[in-house]
Amino acid sequence: MPGPLAISLPRLQAHLETLARFGKNPDGKGITRSCWSPPHEEARTWLLDRMKAAGLSTWIDEAGNTFGRLGNGGPVVMTGSHIDTVPNGGPLDGALGVLAGLECLQTIHESGTRPRLPLMVAAWSDEEGRYTGLFGSRAFAGKLDAKRIPHLRAADGERLVDAMARAGFNAFDAPKARCNPKTIAAYVELHIEQGPYLEAAKVPIGVVEGIVGNRRQWVTFTGQADHAGTTPMAWRRDAFMAAAEYALKARHLIVTKGSGRSVTNFGRVEVGPGVANIVPDRCVLLHELRELDPKVLLRLERQCLALAKQIARKWKLKVTVESISRSEPVRCSPRVMRAVEAAAAELKLKVKQMPSGAGHDAQNLATVTDAGMLFIPSQGGRSHRPDEMSDWRAIERGTNALLHTLFKLAG
Ligand code: GLV
Ligand code: MN
Ligand code: MN
Repeated sequence: MPGPLAISLPRLQAHLETLARFGKNPDGKGITRSCWSPPHEEARTWLLDRMKAAGLSTWIDEAGNTFGRLGNGGPVVMTGSHIDTVPNGGPLDGALGVLAGLECLQTIHESGTRPRLPLMVAAWSDEEGRYTGLFGSRAFAGKLDAKRIPHLRAADGERLVDAMARAGFNAFDAPKARCNPKTIAAYVELHIEQGPYLEAAKVPIGVVEGIVGNRRQWVTFTGQADHAGTTPMAWRRDAFMAAAEYALKARHLIVTKGSGRSVTNFGRVEVGPGVANIVPDRCVLLHELRELDPKVLLRLERQCLALAKQIARKWKLKVTVESISRSEPVRCSPRVMRAVEAAAAELKLKVKQMPSGAGHDAQNLATVTDAGMLFIPSQGGRSHRPDEMSDWRAIERGTNALLHTLFKLAG
């Protein structure tokens, strides 16, 4: 590629700041832009307008993935990320990858230079998994289980079919978004690291070597409601106590028997009937587990299940485990990793190879094409919170590294 070609930071910054206004919380800090919600759909309309203004052809597929394309023929080199956020999230998770991708394609379009292969930017649906993790890229990769669609629901009970219908989509059509892998040459995604490692190492670019797999499940303990004042402690079949013991022991298991970087989280606890004077007969935990090594992930998943059953027996109650989503760990493509490293070298940027502890759409793309990612440092390692940020210069460096990587991959 020609040496001086570089992205426009002022334009990218303006785009990031505008997107951050869709779904801004009333406190003016965090952003809540769940997939299919009115702010998400307004953001999609805005994004489509920006893509068209950048000279791209645009469309939306049956899974609600939004695309912008530069150039004809194929196969295509893809980039992108997501525009949905976690509740009370920040301005960069996902948004950076989409808007940096748009910025790169616009820069290339305006420069009049064309790589050999066409380029495409995607905003994938429901990456954050309000209904199920990595929904849009999963559908695109042909890995959506159609039988589960009617059962997918958010933690507040809203069904995916209803949320998609409100946004003008038919959820049952989502599997039609499956791509033809022959039409894709490679996928590379820019993202904030969302952790502390790059900042601590003072390295501007992370070359992602692999992405963790993830298990999300409802773990439901069912015991016996009883009078909380009169029932002797030894008689109680208290669903909350069993759940609490499970949470602490599962954490201990993951820390002591995992890979050293295995993690687990209990993101929601519901206790029923939920009053002071009744022993809880029901406790539901939203449990998540992540690990890079597929064998370790499978072992930990089985050990957690055995632990839940053992604790249920001890407390003389029942336990059920219902899977919400599963994603498998992937290794990034050496070809894409080399392209990122070569691009960074051209820009005289130091790199560090690292795993991704967060899930990303690149995981699904890795099953259909050569896929990889590059990270930029996150201030204080903060993410999934309103004060998630990266330095604007770090954003500029990362986006220029993406631009050069796209040229390497597209020839
Ligand atoms: C996506 O943000 C994830 O939960 O890893
Ligand atoms: Mn993300
Ligand atoms: Mn996220």
